[in-house]
Amino acid sequence: MSRAWHFHSAGEIVFGRGAVQQLGGLARRLGIERVVVVTDTPIIKAGLLTQVVESLVQAGVAANVFDGGEPEPSLTAVQACVKAAQKSNAQALVSVGGGSNTDLAKAATTLLAHGGSIRDYFGEDRVPGPVGPLIAVSTTAGTGSEVSGAAVLTDKERHLRASILSNYIRPTLALFDPLLTVTCPPRVTADAGIDALTHAIEAYLATDYRYVALPEGQISIYNGKFPLADCLAVEAMRLIGANLRLAVHQGTNLEARENMHLASLLAGMSFSNAAVALVHAIEYPIGMLTHCTHGAGNGLLLPYVMEYNMPARQRELREIAVALGENVDGLTDYQAAERAVAAVRRLEADIGTPMRLRDLGLPEEQIPGISQEVVGLARLMRNNPRPPTEADVAAILRAAW
Ligand SMILES: NC(=O)c1ccc[n+]([C@@H]2O[C@H](COP(=O)([O-])OP(=O)(O)OC[C@H]3O[C@@H](n4cnc5c(N)ncnc54)[C@H](O)[C@@H]3O)[C@@H](O)[C@H]2O)c1
Ligand SMILES: [Zn+2]
Repeated sequence: MSRAWHFHSAGEIVFGRGAVQQLGGLARRLGIERVVVVTDTPIIKAGLLTQVVESLVQAGVAANVFDGGEPEPSLTAVQACVKAAQKSNAQALVSVGGGSNTDLAKAATTLLAHGGSIRDYFGEDRVPGPVGPLIAVSTTAGTGSEVSGAAVLTDKERHLRASILSNYIRPTLALFDPLLTVTCPPRVTADAGIDALTHAIEAYLATDYRYVALPEGQISIYNGKFPLADCLAVEAMRLIGANLRLAVHQGTNLEARENMHLASLLAGMSFSNAAVALVHAIEYPIGMLTHCTHGAGNGLLLPYVMEYNMPARQRELREIAVALGENVDGLTDYQAAERAVAAVRRLEADIGTPMRLRDLGLPEEQIPGISQEVVGLARLMRNNPRPPTEADVAAILRAAW
């Protein structure tokens, strides 16, 4: 079978200190005159909404505000957002926040364009066509959702985290103003930053795009590992290795904030075309059961999954060690790969990432059930360079417990 990789991103990316001041003008150039701004209370309290609304209003864009955003957004929040957009007859949504508000706006935009129930769109390639314009203003350095084709939601009734995956839901415009991330508390900074590192590492270690076992006729937004995604991932890792500690412990350091914001963008462009894999697959049930943040859960699992993937990916792990600033001269690939895992563990210790599943309050008896659920996530399993069995996942979980 012939194979080619594809690359998608946001329609336009704007990056720079003070870029939020350009927002209104950029919206006008897209022909937008009425928007609903999708945000949440901490963002408003941090003073970020004012800057967004000022820029819109100065450019003559009428802005109503929906402030019902929440971490790991629920389907109820999506419905409320849809209602707010319909009520104000908005032409576009402008999300202001981290991955949670961006994903909420993506899901609402999908419903506004195509109707039905949000569950109709869960899974890969279920969105039937383009959605309305969506502008994503980023306030965390983490998820890359501003450029990705994923929206992750919490289905409380079914007790699971479910994703819409479609190239149609990538934002029309993604705006990164690093000054908007300065108010991020240290915990949010650490968790979001380690999520970005997980994205870069999972993309870089993923199954090669030529060997992804995609069932005939099925479309995935994930290609597997390919050269362009590799370049983006390596630079993201380098920036995170050099800047995440400082962004967490000295939040007013603008160089560190800007470098982390760029890293999250690059990692987002990488994973959203290459893949995320086993770390994310295990994190979804763990996050649901323990209510840890997505970043904390990923960070905890990342070194264990790197160790599991080592037999299939020693050379790539060597490159990861180098990107994270390790000296691997004179080491075998295996020794250098171990350095990569150690470097991740050291970074996580320095920024306070939880290290063991028991510390998140996960009962050990849950391990068999989680392992069964994880191997069922075919779309993530086929991207992992070493396809795990249920027993492998259970062993990873026991090691992390
Ligand atoms: N769609 C994707 O591609 C993708 C990828 C990875 C993760 N996610 C999802 O993204 C969510 C996590 O997003 P996140 O890590 O960006 O955090 P978040 O959006 O959940 O925000 C965390 C908290 O920080 C606050 N906050 C955000 N920016 C702030 C700022 N500048 N100042 C003060 N407070 C601020 C928010 O109000 C919120 O209370 C999860 O639901 C996760 O599943 C999505
Ligand atoms: Zn993630």
